[in-house]
Amino acid sequence: MEKELRVGMVGYAFMGAAHSQAWRTVNRVYDLPARARMSVICGRDESKVAEAATRLGWEAYTTDWRELITRDDVDVIDVCTPGDSHAEIAIAALEAGKHVLCEKPLANSVEEARAMVAAAVQAQTAGVRSMCGFNYRRVPAVALMRQLIESGRLGVVRHVRAAYLQDWIVDPQFPLVWRLQRDKAGSGALGDIGAHIIDLTQFVTGQQITGVSGLTETFVKERPLPSAAAGLAALADGSATGPVTVDDAALFLARLDGGAVGTYEATRFATGRKNAVRVEINGSLGSVAFDFERMNELEFYDASAPGTEQGFTRILVTESDHPYMSAWWPPGHIIGYEHTFTHEMRDFLDAVGSGADPTPSFVDALQVQLVMDAVTRSAEQGSAWTEVAPALAEVAA
Ligand SMILES: NC(=O)c1ccc[n+]([C@@H]2O[C@H](COP(=O)([O-])OP(=O)(O)OC[C@H]3O[C@@H](n4cnc5c(N)ncnc54)[C@H](O)[C@@H]3O)[C@@H](O)[C@H]2O)c1
Repeated sequence: MEKELRVGMVGYAFMGAAHSQAWRTVNRVYDLPARARMSVICGRDESKVAEAATRLGWEAYTTDWRELITRDDVDVIDVCTPGDSHAEIAIAALEAGKHVLCEKPLANSVEEARAMVAAAVQAQTAGVRSMCGFNYRRVPAVALMRQLIESGRLGVVRHVRAAYLQDWIVDPQFPLVWRLQRDKAGSGALGDIGAHIIDLTQFVTGQQITGVSGLTETFVKERPLPSAAAGLAALADGSATGPVTVDDAALFLARLDGGAVGTYEATRFATGRKNAVRVEINGSLGSVAFDFERMNELEFYDASAPGTEQGFTRILVTESDHPYMSAWWPPGHIIGYEHTFTHEMRDFLDAVGSGADPTPSFVDALQVQLVMDAVTRSAEQGSAWTEVAPALAEVAA
């Protein structure tokens, strides 16, 4: 019989809404060994979380995540809060015997990520599972990219070229939200969006980054405080500002353990680019190229085709035998951003429901954290070459 996994979700804003949409949908489109039940939503403001529970479709709400993790009617804790609370909530939840799905980046520091891995490894011995929410892995075109590389269609992978480009803080008057504060977010563009392209490229190539040379920049160093923090008088004369304590842009060169070399760029200052996750991989037998702003398409160049027929082919990744697509619409009827989360919940329920570990694991997410830490340290030392130790080796030690 199908198991029921009762979910308790912390946070009800951007990711809370995206995850709710996915929890609502996943069992209606996929046939899975476990069914998600949207049991309890958690937030600190009672009236807002009550409203969110009704709007997003949760049965109950609470204002205290500590109460949430001890409840008998919750099996899974879904962490959708900023990075400064991931470690505390996830570790406590795992210790309380709850499966955990935690948003990315796993933590705000390597130390926190290591503690989360230790808790996950311990919990795993009792069959308690954990996963980090790198949803871009679940874009069908990205999963197809991985299949093509894994099956050898690109030959030896030589170049990884990745960029994650946004522009929402170009205006210097944009307020000092939590994503611009190191104590809340850990880092800026690097952890917010760079984390995604680190995970995505390691996922599709099957190679891990072993060393980096990094460069970071903060273009706007002082910003208006958000209205709640500023007070009306200070806002009126424009005097209430605070320092931006994270990077606005992070760039790095990388070597990967299968011999590939890579370039990475993460910025929220790419004027005109809204959510451009761009990846191109070049191998000895072909290339693939992807841009999330055209997420249903994958460009594939097959160098083994006759010379007169070579050229990039635009694959519309909507056939029912493309990854994740069997549950959706007829070919050519495209899907969107929210489907990546439905696919994430699909993979989570499939693994947990069949007693297996979902991926990406907390160890995979620690690997991303180690790369980000190396980029930060490298940037602080004039872009000095900085090695990245493999996360798996740490766990095995
Ligand atoms: N996978 C993705 O594509 C993606 C996209 C955006 C954000 N994220 C990640 O998701 C996480 C949340 O980001 P967001 O954009 O949803 O942020 P947000 O600001 O929109 O929402 C954060 C939520 O957490 C709540 N919160 C904060 N501290 C809390 C605490 N101590 N206890 C209970 N609730 C608390 C806030 O009230 C709010 O509801 C971050 O880790 C972020 O990096 C991932």
